[in-house]
Amino acid sequence: MSGNTFGVLFRVTTFGESHGKALGAVIDGCPPNLGLGEADIQAELDRRKPGGHNASTSRKEEDRVEILSGVFQGKTTGTPIALVIANRDAQSAAYEDMRDVFRPGHGDYTYFNKDGIRDHRGGGRASVRETAARVAAGAVARKLLACEGIEVVGYTLEVGGIGINSWSRDAIGANRLLCPDPAAAKRMEQKLEEVRSEGDSLGGIVEVRVTGCPAGLGEPVFDKIDADLAGALMSIGTVKGVEIGAGFEAARMRGSRCNDPIGPGGFETNHAGGVLAGITTGQDILIRAACKPIASIAMEQETIDARGNPAKISVRGRHDACVIPRIVPVCEAMVCLVLADHLLRQNAIRKKA
Ligand SMILES: Cc1cc2nc3c(=O)[nH]c(=O)nc-3n(C[C@H](O)[C@H](O)[C@H](O)COP(=O)(O)O)c2cc1C
Repeated sequence: MSGNTFGVLFRVTTFGESHGKALGAVIDGCPPNLGLGEADIQAELDRRKPGGHNASTSRKEEDRVEILSGVFQGKTTGTPIALVIANRDAQSAAYEDMRDVFRPGHGDYTYFNKDGIRDHRGGGRASVRETAARVAAGAVARKLLACEGIEVVGYTLEVGGIGINSWSRDAIGANRLLCPDPAAAKRMEQKLEEVRSEGDSLGGIVEVRVTGCPAGLGEPVFDKIDADLAGALMSIGTVKGVEIGAGFEAARMRGSRCNDPIGPGGFETNHAGGVLAGITTGQDILIRAACKPIASIAMEQETIDARGNPAKISVRGRHDACVIPRIVPVCEAMVCLVLADHLLRQNAIRKKA
């Protein structure tokens, strides 16, 4: 199965499964002399880690990252950076009765039909565990972006249909759902608790905002930056839709409203979400990911086994009730990877004077 490598100049390959020995990433193309230590990466991994939230799985993984190569005396050397994270709390026995049964909403059915073999333990490569490798690589990309003053912040816009009514940057870090509206965060928490006690799950919407991004990133025509950003977010499990700027709402606007007027001081609105013709405008980039409800639910559901016989399934084990908030740092990481790649590509064709 190919497709485990991402990016053109800042190139990341991830490896590993949920219940294997370890997972990790190899980054090829990171420039030399970037200050980098395990603590930089660990800080990001700790944000994604399971167990910190009551909407979250109770699998207790330390997610301790080790840098195996590519860093010398606290600086990148320009050689491949290998990052590894051991799996320590995999409890494969919990998955034994799902060995031959396809869990609805998961990749069990499609993996089996594609390869004729699948690692049933914890979802294998389709598991959320795989996203730890993305977050580790994204932390390196984030350091590169910080040198250029580019900042990437993700937050929760919606959980189970409950949306935000206000936006405060300070509020994001002050509640466990990473929601910019504290009052909405409380309502989201209540709904999550309710649904979890019924053995069910919820979906939600995450927004990522990029500030400080220069104009000019993005490569016409197939590597437009919005196309790459959408692909990057869609590659995360549970993401079913992506919007940039006005997104689907743009289809309901008139051109006179949707166009962002340009004055002497720059753009006056940002319906474009910071991207025109696949190239960054220099405004904030705004991108949203719609996440489906967690597939593993305790409620009984209908399915089939590998021989096509009808079966009933109730998914035991340790699962999130909602992909939010753990998916937020994963979305940020994917955005960081796309931006780092395009930054290097733009620098390669147009060196700063
Ligand atoms: C941060 C995060 C946490 C997740 N946690 C779970 C979980 O606890 N249980 C589960 O069934 N799926 C979980 N998933 C989703 C699976 O990884 C899997 O990709 C998904 O069910 C398949 O959906 P897809 O069709 O969108 O790829 C999680 C995904 C992410 C990104």
